[in-house]
Amino acid sequence: MKKKLLLFASMVILVSVYSQPRGLKTTGAGPSAHLLWVVPPGLVNTISLGAVIKAKASSADNTILQIGTMPDTPLQGPYALVAGGSKGIGYAIAEALARRGYNLVLIARHLDSLYSAKNILESTYGIHVELLAYDLAKEETADIITKWCTDRNIQLKILCNVAGFGGARDYLSLPLDTLRYMVRLNIESTMAVTLSLLPLLEKNAPSYILNVASMAGFAPIPIKNLYSATKSAVVFFSYSLHYQLKKKHISVSCLAPGPVFTKPEIREDTKKKLGWIGMKMAVSPERVGEIAVRETLNKKLIIVPGSLAKISAFFIRLLPRRWIVALYGRVGDK
Ligand SMILES: NC(=O)c1ccc[n+]([C@@H]2O[C@H](COP(=O)([O-])OP(=O)(O)OC[C@H]3O[C@@H](n4cnc5c(N)ncnc54)[C@H](OP(=O)(O)O)[C@@H]3O)[C@@H](O)[C@H]2O)c1
Repeated sequence: MKKKLLLFASMVILVSVYSQPRGLKTTGAGPSAHLLWVVPPGLVNTISLGAVIKAKASSADNTILQIGTMPDTPLQGPYALVAGGSKGIGYAIAEALARRGYNLVLIARHLDSLYSAKNILESTYGIHVELLAYDLAKEETADIITKWCTDRNIQLKILCNVAGFGGARDYLSLPLDTLRYMVRLNIESTMAVTLSLLPLLEKNAPSYILNVASMAGFAPIPIKNLYSATKSAVVFFSYSLHYQLKKKHISVSCLAPGPVFTKPEIREDTKKKLGWIGMKMAVSPERVGEIAVRETLNKKLIIVPGSLAKISAFFIRLLPRRWIVALYGRVGDK
């Protein structure tokens, strides 16, 4: 019986170890900082984006680039801002919001995926999508995003902090600048964007905040030391903020998914290392996005998509931390 319990716990742990993004690329502490503001409709069609990019977007030199800003243009209707909304879970969240009629502000670093997200979402759902190309790990980003939103008096109803950095290596094998980047993106940007947008969310209350953590944030994981630490910070931050903002009619939720196949590497890795149980636990990005938005609007605090993932999360949170860290350690040593 004891052996069976240990085996089950190990499987649960294995799965949650791999419930984080792989293959996310970083250029170290400072992926090139560039800002591209595109404020359609109308104007964007008159901008030859390619020409502008050729002329100015040499982002390696940390140029701050603004295109087509129109601070006086009133933006009508309810908006949701998705930080990390061009791909993966963030895009799925954006699509679930678009399905419900929300206009969107999408933030990511790369323009190509931002534009393709905008095109699909606008043509499919008849909503309006604004794009901000910017590195959320940069200190100044939160203020710039907030100014952009307040200048346009945007009716911000939902803030989604999605972008995160994991990767296959962690604390003892990564250089300090990459670890700092992880902390800045996973924790600092969530904290800063939330704080600076709070007045706008309060003004438009009832409103919502959705922070994306991970099942890896439910317990310490030696081989994913800093990643799980940053995600546990997001979980704790969300718990307290949920309590603190209730009176202001701002509901705070925290999404903590198991494996989500947002990239082929994650599928291959899960299959190779976890076999059928990992494949069974995985939830598609589309379903994760839909569940996340539905439960956020239902004011649910902790959201774990998928039945098997929910059961695993229950055990992970139930077992004493020392047991869990030892089990995770053994799994990591294999
Ligand atoms: N996939 C999983 O299995 C899994 C499991 C549990 C939790 N999570 C969490 O879910 C979140 C999303 O994961 P995902 O797998 O969907 O990732 P993804 O497919 O790589 O998408 C990440 C999104 O964030 C943007 N982004 C990344 N770094 C950024 C930065 N520094 N500044 C601005 N935007 C940035 C990306 O666009 P650009 O690259 O263009 O910037 C993209 O839109 C992460 O917080 C992750 O920890 C994922």
